[in-house]
Amino acid sequence: MVQPLAPQRDALKFAYWVPNVSGGLVVSTLPQRTDWGLAYNQQLAQTAERAGFEYALTQIRFTAGYGAEYQHESVSFSQALLHATTRLKVLAALLPGPWHPAVVAKQIATIDHISGGRIGINVVSGWFKGEFTAIGEHWLEHDERYRRSREFIQALKGIWTQDKFSFRGDFYRFTDYTLSPKPLQQPHPEIFQGGSSRAARDNAATVSDWYFTNGNTPEELKRQIDDIQAKAQANGHRVRIGVNAFVIARDTEEEAQAVLADILKHAHVDAVKAFGEAVTQAGKASPEGEGNWARSTFEDLVQYNDGFRTNLIGTPRQIAERILALKAVGVDLVLTGFLHFIEEVEYFGAKVLPLVRELEAAQAATAAVGIAQPA
Ligand SMILES: Cc1cc2nc3c(=O)[nH]c(=O)nc-3n(C[C@H](O)[C@H](O)[C@H](O)COP(=O)(O)O)c2cc1C
Repeated sequence: MVQPLAPQRDALKFAYWVPNVSGGLVVSTLPQRTDWGLAYNQQLAQTAERAGFEYALTQIRFTAGYGAEYQHESVSFSQALLHATTRLKVLAALLPGPWHPAVVAKQIATIDHISGGRIGINVVSGWFKGEFTAIGEHWLEHDERYRRSREFIQALKGIWTQDKFSFRGDFYRFTDYTLSPKPLQQPHPEIFQGGSSRAARDNAATVSDWYFTNGNTPEELKRQIDDIQAKAQANGHRVRIGVNAFVIARDTEEEAQAVLADILKHAHVDAVKAFGEAVTQAGKASPEGEGNWARSTFEDLVQYNDGFRTNLIGTPRQIAERILALKAVGVDLVLTGFLHFIEEVEYFGAKVLPLVRELEAAQAATAAVGIAQPA
């Protein structure tokens, strides 16, 4: 058996999707041993931090017309997970519009103190017009939503790091505002951002600490990452990259592929089609017509964020090698989803993570030898 090795300095990080909405992470009627309630989620969070996961990502949804019938609110749910854990960082998903940056800055600063510096945020920009209409929230065009998200993040950073903060944006205004206390984490809690259109990538290259994107192949991801990192470098900005993957790790490849086939065979066709319709307001509605879900097939959409496309489906070794291939194109974090969360997070921690660390260590050793060799 492979022994876990100490992570390297630039070791890949691992996050999991918090199933705080019902129906799990796949739009399928296949039975899932996953529950959206608190008791299950607290046990899952404890399992994940023991297994070696660094982050838990909550979801924000006010309503859903495509499955995910019940949804717990992300900030309050994050707090409950933080109370149940000691090391895990929990990312509260936030939607500019319903949330105002003054409220978020205060709320998250308090949670940061209560949790000993373990809260982060994921700023989402909105793709579900039906949800906005349902709650009477003004629906902005695609790039305007991202312009608002950028101001939202700029305002948060300003409030969290400056006294007498003033800001004159098109969406938010602050005058000599001093938040006390400031967050515990310095300079501020980590700011993640989800989305992959041109506007999303530009925000990542300018204001976000982390860029989260849907599942994809290493080649497609490389295109996005190269674009972001070139711009970030020009801006003197540091951004790291997280990618979604639905993991099906089994002792044999046949077993893993059989599970995928079963998920797809039991796809909830009406819900998947409704979801496919709703997400046309995402990247496809941008001026460039590109971004998340712009080219997703029916099968891709069975996992909400194109998680099958990353192809972490197979044996632990196949998965570990594919994870290293993601790292090679500039991925810093893998965001994972599972069919039966608790038991599969445990399996991933026991069988996949040690192999990833072993491969990373081998790579680092090879690189060190390369450096030591005379030219
Ligand atoms: C990892 C990840 C997590 C996301 N979480 C949420 C969420 O909880 N709620 C939500 O409304 N949108 C969420 N989104 C959607 C994004 O904020 C964005 O609206 C969508 O990906 C469309 O992006 P694009 O138009 O830039 O392609 C998430 C996206 C990603 C990649």
